[in-house]
Amino acid sequence: MTDWNPAQYLRYGSERLRPALDLMSRIQVESPETVYDLGCGTGTITGILKERWPDAKVTGVDSSASMLELTQDVETGVYWQHSDLNHWQPENAADVVYSNAALHWLDGHEQLFPRLMEAVKPGGVLAVQMPENFGAPSHTSIADTVREGAWAERLAPFQREHPVAEPAFYYDLVSQMSSSVDMWETTYMHILEGEDPVVEWTKATMLRPLFDNLNDEEEAAFLKSYTEKVAKAYPHSADGKTVLPFKRLFIVAVK
Ligand SMILES: C[S@@+](CC[C@H](N)C(=O)[O-])C[C@H]1O[C@@H](n2cnc3c(N)ncnc32)[C@H](O)[C@@H]1O
Repeated sequence: MTDWNPAQYLRYGSERLRPALDLMSRIQVESPETVYDLGCGTGTITGILKERWPDAKVTGVDSSASMLELTQDVETGVYWQHSDLNHWQPENAADVVYSNAALHWLDGHEQLFPRLMEAVKPGGVLAVQMPENFGAPSHTSIADTVREGAWAERLAPFQREHPVAEPAFYYDLVSQMSSSVDMWETTYMHILEGEDPVVEWTKATMLRPLFDNLNDEEEAAFLKSYTEKVAKAYPHSADGKTVLPFKRLFIVAVK
């Protein structure tokens, strides 16, 4: 498993925070005892979950040691668990299982979502946000650049071209185990600064596992070709900033 670069990820921290808060705002649980943040990363949002429910036992779970290292800066009173969500089971059923921008890194959603619903107490909530912009040029240009190079075969297994299914797929999975389901999509218009901000954005996420499998020379060639495609798709605005439309899927299921 490749590791994360927390500094690169936090570069657009405020843009990445907003969907996390939008998801949190739709959870209507008064005083939960047990809250899990799955794929908690640097723990910023886990700290906010703890602020919202100070009396709850809040645990952040992540498989990346380098992301978890930064949780030292977060509010104390949060528990941290270094573990892989592919095999994760809670110690006790939870009132809130929350996951922002993480589950698209896992395969087998048809088993994963029912397993996560199992981890929720009756009356509790599973709340998930995942990106849904894999058809946008920021992402299709990655696939195009993979296919056009001598690295195509080597990189193919590390590409995640369609990690998130249609909303109705998730509705079918969770509704069987829920008393109510709230789902919505939002396209955020991120206003980004810098020369190649869309490239900087994907460098922290989808490009990461690919670059782990290229040498320096290949990485530079990949980046050049990808940057050219992205520059055409996302030209700078009159003030020099770049608008990045970013669609996300939200699921809040009450058991
Ligand atoms: C895009 S970051 C999101 C971090 C945080 N939830 C946020 O919104 O800022 C995705 C996180 O999911 C974690 N992750 C990916 N696959 C995982 C797995 N199989 N088990 C546990 N964590 C995983 C990564 O280590 C990373 O910290």
